[in-house]
Amino acid sequence: MHVLQGLLQDELPIINDRLARETRELPELVRAVAEHVLMAGGKRLRPLLAILFFRCVSRGTGERVLSASSSLLSSSGESDIYPLACSMEFLHSATLLHDDILDGSDLRRGRTTAHLVYGKTETILAGDVLLALANRLVAEYGDARLSWRVAEAIMRTVSGEIQELEWIKCPTLSQEHYLEIITGKTAYLIQAACHCGALAAGGDEQAAQAALDYGINLGVAFQLTDDALDYSAKAEVAGKPVGNDLREGKLTLPLICYLEILPEAERRETLAWVRALGAAADPGALSAQDTARHGRVVQAVRDAGCVEETRSRAARYIVLAEKALTSLPECPERVALQEALQHTLHREK
Ligand code: FPP
Ligand code: MG
Repeated sequence: MHVLQGLLQDELPIINDRLARETRELPELVRAVAEHVLMAGGKRLRPLLAILFFRCVSRGTGERVLSASSSLLSSSGESDIYPLACSMEFLHSATLLHDDILDGSDLRRGRTTAHLVYGKTETILAGDVLLALANRLVAEYGDARLSWRVAEAIMRTVSGEIQELEWIKCPTLSQEHYLEIITGKTAYLIQAACHCGALAAGGDEQAAQAALDYGINLGVAFQLTDDALDYSAKAEVAGKPVGNDLREGKLTLPLICYLEILPEAERRETLAWVRALGAAADPGALSAQDTARHGRVVQAVRDAGCVEETRSRAARYIVLAEKALTSLPECPERVALQEALQHTLHREK
């Protein structure tokens, strides 16, 4: 991981500085909510992917500018990728603010969630501002392909989230449907970060396709790993309680795999219980009896090897993402993109 580590050391302070600069310009209450979610120690995966694809693809094109008239040129004539990269983090933060309200979550990255500190309405509106800010940052590049990709990713992310909410009301054991949901709610935004980086570098059709393929497969693997961690990570490392998805009545791959191996009657009864958790007026707030059963099911999912099964499914997507890189120029950024795949697969939070 040393190439990725080195690049992270150089890039993270710049990304964080740019995020802080943009955030400082926001109206006061929006700024407080934005800082709450942004300064809680996110991994900055999406901005980093945009930067790595930009730099890697630029080596192939030799292109240093977006367009002659672009207002986003540094004094050296090199296009400034950071606003585009930061737009991905603002977009991601907007989805998290909204998601924690929808899920009734109390903790995110070890901190009380924004809506519990600043109120639901304020947090929804602050999320809307971040969404708009992300779009404005992208629009400033004056490249319709970038704006189209980001708009498409937003549409698909929200659609994936709606699909998940519907599914919680009436969960079935369809792995296909689950994969469609996670592709929507997580993978398209990660894909957009990669694709936008490649487009901004003036990449050809082949480079753009590599970014799309890498992004979508990494995105699915990322969510599968997240879903595995939800059953296995220690709460103090993850910054959120163990078994959170089950508490919210969310049927993710570890639970689907577990339910599939149960005898028919037990499976039907457990699925009905999961549905009742999802339909609760206050999702996530469990009775003492449900808390005890929740603990037993989380342990049973682990004991049945379903966390490992989910991780090995994630590994298959990682292989596909790695293959997508082969058409790109060999360079330190490509190595870092490879290392990012392993980091995603083996992460502990
Ligand atoms: C986290 O999933 C949530 C997402 C990946 C997407 C959330 C998207 C929305 C709420 C739509 C709103 C969109 C915009 C553009 C403002 P999770 O709940 O499984 O993971 P978690 O454990 O991190 O909460
Ligand atoms: Mg959530």
